[in-house]
Amino acid sequence: MSAQHHFDVLIIGTGSAGLMSALQLSENLSIALIAKDKILEGSSYYAQGGISAVLDENDNFESHIKDTLSTGVDLADETAVRFMTEQAPSAIKSLERAGVIFTQQQGQYHLTTEGGHSHRRVAHVADKTGQSIQTNLLDSAKEKNNITLFENFIAIDLLIKNQQCHGAYILNKSTNEVESFIAHKTIIATGGASKAYLYTSNPDTSTGDGIAMAYRGGCHIVNMEFTQFHPTCLYHPHAKSFLISEALRGEGAKLILPTGKAFMQKYDERAELAPRDIVARAIDSEMKTHGFDCVYLDISFKDKDWIKSHFPTIYKKCASFGIDMSQEPIPVVPAAHYTCGGIQTDINAHSNINNLYAIGEVAHAGVHGANRMASNSLLECIVFAKACANHINQQVLTSKYPSFDNWDASRVSLSKEKVMVTHLWDEVRRIMWNFVGIVRSNKRLNSAQMRLTQIQNEVDEYYRLYLISSDLIELRNLVATAQLIVKSAILRKESRGLHYNEDYPDTSNQAKDTIITL
Ligand code: FAD
Ligand code: SIN
Repeated sequence: MSAQHHFDVLIIGTGSAGLMSALQLSENLSIALIAKDKILEGSSYYAQGGISAVLDENDNFESHIKDTLSTGVDLADETAVRFMTEQAPSAIKSLERAGVIFTQQQGQYHLTTEGGHSHRRVAHVADKTGQSIQTNLLDSAKEKNNITLFENFIAIDLLIKNQQCHGAYILNKSTNEVESFIAHKTIIATGGASKAYLYTSNPDTSTGDGIAMAYRGGCHIVNMEFTQFHPTCLYHPHAKSFLISEALRGEGAKLILPTGKAFMQKYDERAELAPRDIVARAIDSEMKTHGFDCVYLDISFKDKDWIKSHFPTIYKKCASFGIDMSQEPIPVVPAAHYTCGGIQTDINAHSNINNLYAIGEVAHAGVHGANRMASNSLLECIVFAKACANHINQQVLTSKYPSFDNWDASRVSLSKEKVMVTHLWDEVRRIMWNFVGIVRSNKRLNSAQMRLTQIQNEVDEYYRLYLISSDLIELRNLVATAQLIVKSAILRKESRGLHYNEDYPDTSNQAKDTIITL
């Protein structure tokens, strides 16, 4: 008989959003924190550039709000953006209380800048901001008696009855048993879906699980067409998903062609510091026009010691591939980086299903619109994790738990066709990269939709017949999320921010969200 667990709060995901929410919940509440891989594995750990907040006396909230709204091309929700930016300094303090020590210069925060910001407002820990945040938050969580950590447990589906969420079915990857986690409140903090694309800056955890689970459970899913492509990922045959931080451009790095010619000024007067959608499209266009495999990012004009102290991780990684960034430009290409859309949530991070919350990259809280501004994501994670915890802390939870049947695996058998899973996994990611990339067209989107529908049917059949596994759970979610991206892209009859369709090149003067329901 498989295990049943009972907790006040179930948090699925241990990125910065999940960990921070656990730490902010009242210590009277019992909390289960679930990670499908190692606890620290997730995008948060790899964050480089930093976290944005108004911390300089010459900066102000109105400017942070204006930059965020303008980068999001008028689609972000001003109330949510105002809430996030006004809470940013206190988010920084919460991280410092957990032990994060931000890089300082002459007794002040060393603030850097990135695309879209009109002031220096990005606090960072050299180029390993995420690592510092994650290790400190995890250490703090381990000190709390009310938090139980479950590593290598992958959520399959939410337990939903009458529009109320009561937890989730979760596969224990060590025993291959499905266990029931029954909870009064469930928080989805599973990160984004950039693994839906063949080339991505993200770790393997970003398979859109939370978005797909929530969609199947009846949540509203918003603006999935806005996949952000980071302009500069390391281009090297042996480098898997390694980002070259936008903070390099913030410190003056130039994008150049293999011929040595700079090109960004031609696309935007802000050149290298234009928002990411513009820079990624410019690189894509240069590569396609000239047939180049990559472009280059040059910061070699800076002093070697300065580079090594500001960007130690990037310096070491490039050196490990024989690239000395203090002497030569770094080969870079765009890759899928961030999912701007997600589960629709309100200012308390609550979804349209009772007792179900979503925080971090998996959520659509309305703060990014058609393009997320750099370093606003960690900020969103921390601010909405706190808002969600506050909302739960204010409620009186009952002591009774509803009953649910255990997972039934009696009608399925062990698969001898695992190649189906690996093949379809690869096919989905290629379709998305080739047909639903930086520049889209109606024809390519329709082709993608047709083939993804067939793949969905094949995966559904496989799911009905065979024993569940972690790879199958992820494939099922990846296909579902890819379909949500394509459907949303087809519904948007304009180009805006990250969504560029050459059949509708203009931006409509009416900004509207794309909302998909079951
Ligand atoms: P994640 O940190 O991705 O964590 C997701 C968690 O969910 C993991 O614990 C995972 O195991 C778990 N999970 C997923 N599915 C399941 C499941 N089915 N069952 C159980 N657990 C599950 N943003 C910034 O603001 N500043 C930056 O400098 C920055 N740099 C970045 C650099 C890189 C290389 C990348 C990839 C992203 C960067 N971003 C940055 C974006 C930012 O890091 C992410 O958007 C943010 O960290 C997401 O946090 P999260 O908590 O929502 O999810
Ligand atoms: C980076 O350091 O370039 C990533 C910043 C972000 O995604 O916000």
